[in-house]
Amino acid sequence: MKLAIGNDHVAVEMKNEIKKHLEGKGIEVIDVGTNSTDRFDYPISGYKVAKMVASGEVDGGVLICGTGLGISLAANKVKGIRACVCSEPYTAKLSRQHNNSNIIAFGARVIGIEMAKMIVDEWVNADFEGDRHQRRVDMLKEIEETQHLKAAE
Ligand code: RB5
Repeated sequence: MKLAIGNDHVAVEMKNEIKKHLEGKGIEVIDVGTNSTDRFDYPISGYKVAKMVASGEVDGGVLICGTGLGISLAANKVKGIRACVCSEPYTAKLSRQHNNSNIIAFGARVIGIEMAKMIVDEWVNADFEGDRHQRRVDMLKEIEETQHLKAAE
């Protein structure tokens, strides 16, 4: 498995810990930065990770900023991205199983490092369940591609 990871200035330390944690599980991690605690605009790393995921260069992405919000909003602007902010493992697991999330995001100012590790572990180990969930994920794609949803007419 190969993942991309990105963060802003608030989350450098947590990013490094999570990267080490994932590598310890045999996962290849591409770090798009930032690696400085100087103020950094989160859309840059959100965009970089999202493009890598959308192109298939990596299997998924991890994004961390202060809350996980700004960086996931940026990622979700890229076609094909389903980035979910999760502050606990249950939602992280379901984001894969039901929503087929391809990026997990969380906030370095919101959760501690041990919770962050549990979140990424649940997310990495979960699989999309397809079936009725596929229909709903297809609807998300329809909205994204056409700005319209036939089922809502
Ligand atoms: C940076 O101060 C903060 O706005 C950022 O880390 C993030 O929480 C944005 O959503």
